[in-house]
Amino acid sequence: MTNKSLAKAPADTCILVTGGAGFIGSHTCVELLERGYSIVIVDDLSNSNAKAIDRIREIAGIGPSAEDQARVVFYEASILDEPALERIFESHDIDAIIHFAGLKAVGESVAKPLEYYWNNVAGTLVLCRVARAYGVKNIVFSSSATVYGEPAFVPITEECPKREATNPYGQTKSMLERILTDLHIGDPEWNVVLLRYFNPIGAHESGLIGEDPKGLPNNLVPYVAQVAVGRLASVGVFGDDYPTPDGTGVRDYIHVVDLARGHVAALDWMGGRVGTGAPSGPDAIAAEPAPCGSRRGVGVFNLGTGTGSSVLDVIHSYERACGKELPYEIKPRRAGDIAENYAACDKAREELGWVAEYDLDRMCADSWRWQSTNPYGYEEA
Ligand code: NAD
Ligand code: WQD
Repeated sequence: MTNKSLAKAPADTCILVTGGAGFIGSHTCVELLERGYSIVIVDDLSNSNAKAIDRIREIAGIGPSAEDQARVVFYEASILDEPALERIFESHDIDAIIHFAGLKAVGESVAKPLEYYWNNVAGTLVLCRVARAYGVKNIVFSSSATVYGEPAFVPITEECPKREATNPYGQTKSMLERILTDLHIGDPEWNVVLLRYFNPIGAHESGLIGEDPKGLPNNLVPYVAQVAVGRLASVGVFGDDYPTPDGTGVRDYIHVVDLARGHVAALDWMGGRVGTGAPSGPDAIAAEPAPCGSRRGVGVFNLGTGTGSSVLDVIHSYERACGKELPYEIKPRRAGDIAENYAACDKAREELGWVAEYDLDRMCADSWRWQSTNPYGYEEA
C-alpha cells in the first residue's frame, strides 16, 4: 500500500501521538494543535493522567463544537494491543505517527528488563505492523542522547559514534533506531525521523501541563522541584569530583516546549516543507524523492540547546525561579552517570530550520509555575 503523503496543509493532516498524555507528548500535542493539525492520542496512562488531555484541550482552545472535538481524540489503550490499534486506524485517516509511548526509567529498566524490552520494542513492532497495514509509513521516534553512551567527544554531533548502552532502557532506544532504519531499507516508502533528545525539563508557560513523575523522581529537575515545593527535604548532588568546571555533572537541558516544536519541524521536514538537501550523517539514508516531495528517508537529529549546565547551575537557577534557597547535599556518584554531555545542534538548525529558544532560567521559571500551582501534579493534594 502506498504511503500517505505529508505534502499537504496541517489542517488536512491527522497525527497519531502515542504516549500523548505524558510529559513530552502532552506539550507536543499542544504545539501540533496550535499549528492546525488534528491529533489522535493513544496512551495506556501507565505513567500519566487523563487530566493532561483536558488540559491540552484547554490550552489549545478546543471548544465543545463537534468540529473542534474531532481535532483531539483520546484512546486509553496500549500500543501492544493490536486489535485496539486496528480499530483506531480504521476509525481515523491517520497520516503520520509521533511515537512517544514507552517506559523510560533507567534504574527500573535494569531491574525489569523483560518489561522494558516488551513494552518498548514489541510495542513499537506492533504499532508499525498495524500502521503499515493502513498505509501509514511516516514516523517520528523519541530517541535519546543515551545512544551515544559515554560520548566520544562533546559537543556531540550526529556523527558521534553510538556506544553500547549501559542499561536496558538505552538498549531499547538503540534497537528501535536500528529497527526503524531497517524498515526504510526494506521498504523505502517508510519515512523515519529519529530525534535524539538531550535533557527535557520545564513546562508549558500556562502552568497547566508539566512533568508529573509517579513516586520518587529519578531525574534532577523533578527532584529539585519537589524540594522547592516542600514535598522533599533536600537535593542529593550525585558527585562533585567530575572533570567539569564545578565538579558536578554537566547536561544539555532543553525546554520541553522547544523540544515539542522540534517534532512539528520534523513533520515539516518529512512533508518537504523545510530543508532542501537529502538527509545527511552516518545514520541517515536518503529516499528517492517523490514528485510530491514528501519522501525523505531516515533523518537523525539531536535536539538540545548546545549549552551544558552543571547540577549546581540547575539548583541555583531554580532558586532564582522560586525565590528561596534550596538545601542540597553532596552524595557519591550515581552508577552509570557520565561527566558531561551536550549537543551540537547545527544539523537540526540547517535541515529542520529548528533552534531551541529558551534558556535555563526560563526552563526553571516555567517548571516552578507548574510545580507551585500543581504541587501534587495532576493529583489533588
Ligand atoms: P512519559 O512517561 O511522561 O510519557 C510516556 C507516555 O507513554 C506515558 O504517558 C505512558 O503512560 C505512555 N505509555 C507507556 N507505555 C505505553 C504503552 N505500551 N502503550 C501506550 N502508552 C504507553 O515520558 P516522557 O518523558 O514524556 O518521554 C516520552 C518519550 O521520550 C519516551 O519514549 C522516552 O523514552 C523518550 N525520552 C525521554 C527523555 C526524558 O528525559 N524525559 C529523554 C529522551 C527520550
Ligand atoms: C542529570 C544530572 C545526575 C538526580 C536521564 C537518562 C537519559 C535521558 C534523560 C531518557 C546528572 C544529577 C540527578 C538527582 C543529581 N532519558 N542528579 N541528583 O541521567 O542525564 O539522563 O534522563 O532517554 O537516558 O539517563 O538525567 O536528570 O537523571 O541527571 O545530582 O537527584 O543530575 O548525576 O549529572 P540524565 P538526570
